[in-house]
Amino acid sequence: MRRAAAFNGELMDYIRPHVKAGISTEELNTLAHDYTLKHGHTPACLGYHGFPKSLCTSINNVVCHGIPSATDVLKEGDIVNVDLTTIVDGFYGDSSETFFVGYVSSRARKLVAVTARALVMAIEGVKPGMPLSAIGEIIQPFVESYGYSVVREYTGHGIGREFHENFSVFHHRTRECDQVILRPGMTFTIEPMINMGKHGVVTDKKDKWTVRTKDRSLSAQFEHTVAVTESGIEVLTLTPSQKESGQILNVVGMEKY
Ligand code: MF3
Ligand code: CO
Ligand code: CO
Repeated sequence: MRRAAAFNGELMDYIRPHVKAGISTEELNTLAHDYTLKHGHTPACLGYHGFPKSLCTSINNVVCHGIPSATDVLKEGDIVNVDLTTIVDGFYGDSSETFFVGYVSSRARKLVAVTARALVMAIEGVKPGMPLSAIGEIIQPFVESYGYSVVREYTGHGIGREFHENFSVFHHRTRECDQVILRPGMTFTIEPMINMGKHGVVTDKKDKWTVRTKDRSLSAQFEHTVAVTESGIEVLTLTPSQKESGQILNVVGMEKY
């Protein structure tokens, strides 16, 4: 798991400088796909339940599962989540970041920064012995204090030799997972999707993948694959630049929230 997740982090740092105005999400897909194959690994999204591409690119009001396309060209002011998943020697690493494309409005920057802080707070707040529901207990009140909302339909997940394993990791408050106690050695993702408006989402009728906010408000997301240790949480998908800086996420302005 450490090696699979570390490669996924390396891939994120490789993609990062390419997320700029003028590039199409199809080109980002090709870059990630080729880099993964070059290193002898497998893009997990390609063909997963029929998903047609090697990564997800979710722009502005797209919550998750956006399909890369040659006609989706990033433009100044967009926010875009790039969600990468790689299979390395049979193990899955899964992480995502929301990027700013050029100059982005301050309200969008605040949404992205608060979403990043929510993930960091969950990672820093969770300890072995706590119920899995502690994650939602941390994230939901924090993001709602800004008037934002937590997407309910999509969750984090156990991860290992499979992409999505038990248990679902809820980012909102729910009794559903308060019986699951965090134990050292468990590996799962935390990946809050936070909407600027209401929490409802709709799936595109035509492509059956793209998930958008129902009210068409902006949505942001960050994801790390983590492991429970004896003392807390180890972030497995830290990128080389994050390891160097000592920061779990590197979002400009995040420390204000
Ligand atoms: N990477 C996503 C997650 O965090 C799942 C994408 S599934 C796909 O769980 F089929 F859309 F690629
Ligand atoms: Co995931
Ligand atoms: Co993911």
